[in-house]
Parts: sequence; C-alpha cells; structure tokens
Amino acid sequence: MVTKGWLLHSALAMVLIVGVSSQDCGQILTRLKQANQAQLELLNSKMNSTIPEQCINDVVSFSLKNKLPTNLDVSEEENAKVAIQEVLQQTSHIFRQNCTEMLWDEDSLRAFHAGLDQQSENLKSCLSASPRSQRIQLTRLRVKRYFQSLNDFLKQKEYSRCAWEIIQIQVKQCFLWIEKLIVMKN
Ligand SMILES: *[C@@H]1O[C@H](CO)[C@@H](O)[C@H](O)[C@H]1NC(C)=O
Ligand SMILES: *[C@@H]1O[C@H](CO)[C@@H](O)[C@H](O)[C@H]1NC(C)=O
Repeated sequence: MVTKGWLLHSALAMVLIVGVSSQDCGQILTRLKQANQAQLELLNSKMNSTIPEQCINDVVSFSLKNKLPTNLDVSEEENAKVAIQEVLQQTSHIFRQNCTEMLWDEDSLRAFHAGLDQQSENLKSCLSASPRSQRIQLTRLRVKRYFQSLNDFLKQKEYSRCAWEIIQIQVKQCFLWIEKLIVMKN
C-alpha cells in the first residue's frame, strides 16, 4: 500500500518537475497528464471510499442538478486547453474557501494548491488563442458558471462536512474529465 507521505512527496516532486520545464509547450499535455494524475491520487487519498451516510441525500440531489459542462466544444485543442486551465484555476479558488470541515492536513492542502496553481500557470503561458475569441469566452463562462454553483452550494451549506464531500466528488470528476480530454488530444 502506498502511504500518504509517499503520495504527498510524489505530488510535490511532480510540482517541481512541471515547474522546471515550463517553457516547453510542445510537451505541455503530457506533463499535465502526469501532474493531474498526482493531484487525483492526492485527492483520492483524502476522500473516504464510502460517502458518509448523512451526506447521501445531498450528494444525490446535488449531482442530479449540477454537472460539469462536459459537452463543451473541445474539438479544437486550444479550446480544450482553455477549459482545462479554467477548471484548474476555479478548483484552486474553491479549495481556498473555509476548509475547516474538510479534514485535510495543512501540508496536503498546500501541495494541492501548489500543484493546481503551477499547472494552471504553465498552461496559461502556452495558450495561443486570443482571450477575446468568442468561443474561448464561452468556454470560460460555462466552466465558471458550474464552479459558481459549487461555490453557492458550499456557502449555502455553511462549508459543512457533507458539502465538502460533494465538492471533492465533483472535483474528482473534473480531474477524470481532464485526463480524458488529454488522452483525446494527445
Ligand atoms: C471517513 O469516515 C470515517 C467513518 O465515518 C470517519 O471517522 C473519518 O473521519 C472519515 N475520513 C474523512 C477524511 O472524511
Ligand atoms: C468555517 O466553517 C465552520 C463550519 O461550518 C464554522 O464553524 C467556522 O466558523 C467557519 N469559519 C469561518 C472563518 O468562517
């Protein structure tokens, strides 16, 4: 079994590797895939394998109403990169909300933030499309709207344990979607 300490170290190592070679945009998706994998492992190590019983109703009703817009038009690689970058940025933002009930230790949370911010910056520096392009703006808007619903929910539920369970489940889905997108585009 891999220990949490090992996972944390591998996540930190990933951050460093990704940071060093950030100028090489040709390999950006390959490196992003590795970093995303490390982030996913870190997230998984912090999540309970079963949803706490008192949260099941909330999980079900939330999942029925809110979905990551996976039907975004990502036929162009550039648009896929924009979608991924926005997801990373928004995830970093949401994990800076009141985390008391989330039960993560400080070091893991810090590593998670560092990974998200680093990947997001690397990807940003490799985007070539005009940020004013209508399609790019629409992509960002749709991702933002979805995260706004997560933010609203957290706030409405007063950053409770169940609300954080749900956020983590949703973010996990986002990471799995990123992985799928990268495999498709790479
Ligand atoms: C996982 O569930 C157990 C039993 O409900 C609980 O004691 C523990 O704190 C939970 N861990 C996390 C990270 O939520
Ligand atoms: C954070 O959330 C917890 C749990 O809902 C609450 O008890 C605490 O007062 C909140 N802290 C802040 C700074 O809002």
